[in-house]
Amino acid sequence: MKAELEALQVEALEAIQTTGDLNTLEEHRVNFLGRKGRVTDILRGVSQLSVEERPLMGQAANAVKVVICEALDARKAELTVVAEAAQAESEAVDLSLPGRTPRKGHMHVINQVTDEILQIFGDLGFQTATGPDIETEYYNFDCLNTPKEHPARDSHDTFFVKPGTVLRTHTSPVQMRVMEKFQPPVAVVIPGRVYRVDYDATHSPMFYQFEGLLVDKGITFADLRGTLMHFIHRMFGKDIEVRFRPHFFPFTEPSAEVDILWKAKDRHTGEMKSQWLEILGCGMVHPEVFKHAGYDYEQYNGFAFGMGVDRIAMVKHGINSIHHLYENDVRFLEQF
Ligand code: DAH
Repeated sequence: MKAELEALQVEALEAIQTTGDLNTLEEHRVNFLGRKGRVTDILRGVSQLSVEERPLMGQAANAVKVVICEALDARKAELTVVAEAAQAESEAVDLSLPGRTPRKGHMHVINQVTDEILQIFGDLGFQTATGPDIETEYYNFDCLNTPKEHPARDSHDTFFVKPGTVLRTHTSPVQMRVMEKFQPPVAVVIPGRVYRVDYDATHSPMFYQFEGLLVDKGITFADLRGTLMHFIHRMFGKDIEVRFRPHFFPFTEPSAEVDILWKAKDRHTGEMKSQWLEILGCGMVHPEVFKHAGYDYEQYNGFAFGMGVDRIAMVKHGINSIHHLYENDVRFLEQF
């Protein structure tokens, strides 16, 4: 048994010394010292020996166990250092590499322009109101003095959701929603999306409008013009060229359209060109509209206007197609 122990020790130390990785080392530990290991086996055999032999062989076997144990620990420490070094090498971080900065977002140019418009009218004391995108025909047309069969309906090529329900073609229906809730004096501005079956360089099936309504006693067309000129000068500067043209809207009388001189690069030739661009419609609120609102039209009058936010943005920033605003090309959006 003694010789067997010595041979086992030599074999174990040899195996431990030549092991190159921690997994194999663990296998050796199980093989020699584990519950069913070879040293454990021998130690178990000691109890079969005679009383004289037992302490001697017990001691010898325990000594072998301790030697193997120490050898395992020592080799484990060596291999751990090697393994950690290898891991450090493979997971090394190059601190000199430039970082990946997240892309910064910002407000869309339409929102920037909307905020600017709200600010200008807010400074004049107008409050902000909003209404639903999906409207009844009543609010979108009828109450605005545009009954069925009225030819003015043709100018708004309408998306119908179902009979009697439309995607609003303008923000004007919110005028009525405001008047139904509040008594004069009212001064509100109403930003929002509107929808029309329309598509070319200056038209998009969905676009943004901005409505204004002021009702009080003794309001004149001069108040309307003064308010709009103040807005246009703050928005575009005093040098902008402006043109008021008589026009027709069912819900205002008299009515006008306002054009401003738009300078932008031609999309095809790249040459700078200027042309009049209609940016808003306006007028004095029609008595029929006040009747629907339940306002006393003998006592009150007012003005209203509706403008295209996209058009305002196009003139302000020299943008040559409305579609740039909705295609979400980051190269375009980043410029604002
Ligand atoms: N709602 C009209 C449109 O989209 C614009 C407009 C004209 C609004 C005159 C008004 C107004 O409030 O008084 O074509």
